[in-house]
Amino acid sequence: MRRTARPRHYLMCRPAHFDVAYSINPWMDPTKPVDTQLAIAQWEQLRKVYESLGHTVDTIDPLPGLPDMVFAANGATVIGDRALVARFRNAERAEEAVAHHNWLRDRGFRRLRTAGFVNEGEGDYLVTDDWILAGTGFRSDPRSHTEAQEFFERPVISLRLVDPNYYHLDTALAVLDRKTIAYYPEAFSPGSRAVLRRLFTDAIVADDATAAVFGLNAVSDGHNVVLPHNATDLAGVLERRGFNPIGVDLSELLKAGGSVKCCTMELHSTSSAD
Ligand code: ARG
Repeated sequence: MRRTARPRHYLMCRPAHFDVAYSINPWMDPTKPVDTQLAIAQWEQLRKVYESLGHTVDTIDPLPGLPDMVFAANGATVIGDRALVARFRNAERAEEAVAHHNWLRDRGFRRLRTAGFVNEGEGDYLVTDDWILAGTGFRSDPRSHTEAQEFFERPVISLRLVDPNYYHLDTALAVLDRKTIAYYPEAFSPGSRAVLRRLFTDAIVADDATAAVFGLNAVSDGHNVVLPHNATDLAGVLERRGFNPIGVDLSELLKAGGSVKCCTMELHSTSSAD
């Protein structure tokens, strides 16, 4: 199958203040040393990959005291001129939402709102052609799903996550093109698994090993799929399905429970989602 890449617009945040200073997911061990310089170098590599693919990368200034701010996906969900800014579950990350709100306001997003219920942005909200897939169970409040549906005027499909290792939707599911996803079924409740099977008959089903290296925390432009370098099985499947997998090493950021997609907020154009 021939796949076509579409140029994308991403927002990233340089991990200048990256650290694992607290633990809000099972991957974070504050007693383990973190190499901030290595995190920066790995992140620069990711940014270069996007630029070499012709995508636009904007950055938001990293703030001291916000060690998780590198995970820009969590700051908001953006489609066209509508931006729904996050409301973080954990106090440690609350200020990131303010920074994202200011960034989006300064860029002229007119339909800008901060979520009323806990909503962790594109960590839990993934945009497909027809729907917005939304995760709950650990972070985003299910009431934020209804809020997002009203705000974006798009159907929101609510999915329940059940494994604490895969606490955001983007750790267990990747949107690859307008109609295709890859996901790790075990991360979802039985009902949500059935919903995914019904909606995505053509989905790539990932195994434990792929999920464990954050293979599903991937970013696709419709053809090129940027994913953790050690997700080799998934890379093989992607190739067979006509995608071009590009591995990057973000091992330092995985110490905080994040990888490629977590570092990348997509400012979706309406055409991409229409
Ligand atoms: N340490 C961060 C947290 O637990 C990691 C966020 C990962 N981001 C994501 N989009 N999954 O909140």
